[in-house]
Amino acid sequence: SDLSHIRNFCIIAHIDHGKSTLADRILQLTGAVEERKMKEQLLDDMDLERERGITIKAHPVSMNYKAKDGKTYQFNLIDTPGHVDFSYEVSRSLQACEGAILVVDAAQGVEAQTVSNTYLAEEQNLAIFPVLNKIELPNAQPEVVAQQIEDLLAIEASDCLTVSAKTGQGIAEVLEAVVARIPPPKPGVDSSARGLVFDSKYDAFRGVVVYLRLFSGSLKPGEKVRMMGSEMDYEIKEVGIFAPDPTPVKELKEGSVGYVIANIKDASEIQIGDTMTSARHPAATPLPGFKEIHPMVFAGIYPIETSDYEKLGKSLDKLKLNDAAFTYQAESSVALGFGFRCGFLGLLHMEIVQERLRREFDLDIIASYPNVIYRVNLKSGETLEVDNPTMLPDVMQVQSMEEPFIKATIITPTDCLGDMMQLIMEKRGEITHTDSIDAQRVMLTCDLPLNEVLIDFYDRLKSISRGYASMDYEYADYRESDLVKMDILIHSEPVDAFSAIVHRSKAVYRGRQMCASLKDVIPRQAFSVAIQAALGGKIIARETIRAYRKDVTAKCYGGDISRKRKLLERQKEGKKKMKSIGKVNIPQEAFIAVLKTK
Ligand code: GTP
Repeated sequence: SDLSHIRNFCIIAHIDHGKSTLADRILQLTGAVEERKMKEQLLDDMDLERERGITIKAHPVSMNYKAKDGKTYQFNLIDTPGHVDFSYEVSRSLQACEGAILVVDAAQGVEAQTVSNTYLAEEQNLAIFPVLNKIELPNAQPEVVAQQIEDLLAIEASDCLTVSAKTGQGIAEVLEAVVARIPPPKPGVDSSARGLVFDSKYDAFRGVVVYLRLFSGSLKPGEKVRMMGSEMDYEIKEVGIFAPDPTPVKELKEGSVGYVIANIKDASEIQIGDTMTSARHPAATPLPGFKEIHPMVFAGIYPIETSDYEKLGKSLDKLKLNDAAFTYQAESSVALGFGFRCGFLGLLHMEIVQERLRREFDLDIIASYPNVIYRVNLKSGETLEVDNPTMLPDVMQVQSMEEPFIKATIITPTDCLGDMMQLIMEKRGEITHTDSIDAQRVMLTCDLPLNEVLIDFYDRLKSISRGYASMDYEYADYRESDLVKMDILIHSEPVDAFSAIVHRSKAVYRGRQMCASLKDVIPRQAFSVAIQAALGGKIIARETIRAYRKDVTAKCYGGDISRKRKLLERQKEGKKKMKSIGKVNIPQEAFIAVLKTK
């Protein structure tokens, strides 16, 4: 079939540089959306995205463009998210494309994710052309930024287009450049159907909707298809394109991007990166899959109401379908009851999953303190992977421990360089390169333990730089580290849920912090209670809760009997939610408070 009129591309950028706005303008100009239907940021259709102004999921859109050469082209545009945690979404989108528009804010210049997304696109051998956006702003400096692009990314400054996605200036040239600078799809190796599944979505009425890029062959309703990875067969009910709403078509053809609805009922049946082929004439080889993504951050998610456990499980199942990077498995905790141990790519990813559970699935949940995966090398020669401090083997068996490191790219204003270096040092990081971008900004490349970045690194980086610094990272490797297990003892009883794996140099600080926050949330008991942090048998921090003296009903001085009864009832109510650790009753809120704090 003729592929010369097809262009599959995506837009990559640093957060807020204007990807979604540019995508909207492109849709408008090609007439994919009628003017009156146009709302701001049409592609960001999740509420959460609209509110936070960030793109979380990638949405494909097909449109027709009548070019200056008189021919009509089919554009398939895949919008991509911009945040560090979602670079896996970016690489999935890239694999379905032949080219990428690199958007850079002409007032802000190259930022950390401009650099990292360009690297990702280059790895996929995509044709990249840079577009300088927001040029109508008085402080836009297109020449300066074009030079940065040449210096830092080795893309010629003269290749840059200049646009304002806000006013529409220059957008027509972008469309022509898509035709001229992005190659059409290469013909398939043979005529067998090969569709790369790059996303999927669960629809309550239609079951699982599979998003794919067809690299060879075609797919039609009524056909039997096979997922090459899972070896499951299905019958196609509908195929279609995103125009931008899902629109059924008779046939999905080679080179195009669209969706398939088959009799796939269960979320977990579809693996992102799998190849869909014909069951009757299966392709000899699957497409190269996506790079497997591994969650790097783990935390427990528990329902506040125990009766919501099953609902939580089902909701996680549905989320997982739409989010290949997310993992979970059942676990239970003394403190929090039955819940799930969940794996995320990073903190924002974790926050978003929690937020979606609350909003889309209407669940009340709490999450425990996040952890990374540590490698524990045992004296026996065995290596364990541990993400939960309670799973650590006895110290006597341990030869050494390793923790994950990231390679971070930080772009910072020069005037706060000193504070930034201080922060990196405090977080046990090491700067490996310093490149100056211009008189005002520096690019730092450094190695940091992921564990230290988890907690408040990003917030600190933003506050030191008054919001101007940007950061992106990739996972680097595991390195040996002096890690220890810190236990928290309450009235001499160790409490599993409070144990943590920490770097030895941070243990005292963290121990004091935990003891102090527990002191605030554990109510007084009839006897005095010691709260201690310990490494092995050694106590490194301590707080004491003194015994209470007064009877709880004393302040009613026997007067109002109904008030007294109410108070006692409330006290009983409170007791129900207490967990007893040895002789001490600890309210559930104490666990929640401490597990959530730093
Ligand atoms: P994420 O989806 O969060 O990664 O951001 P994005 O890159 O898609 O950016 P978005 O399109 O949401 O634009 C970010 C902000 O810049 C919004 O407030 C836009 O209105 C604004 N913006 C986009 N293009 C222009 C432009 O050409 N000029 C001006 N002045 N503002 C623009």
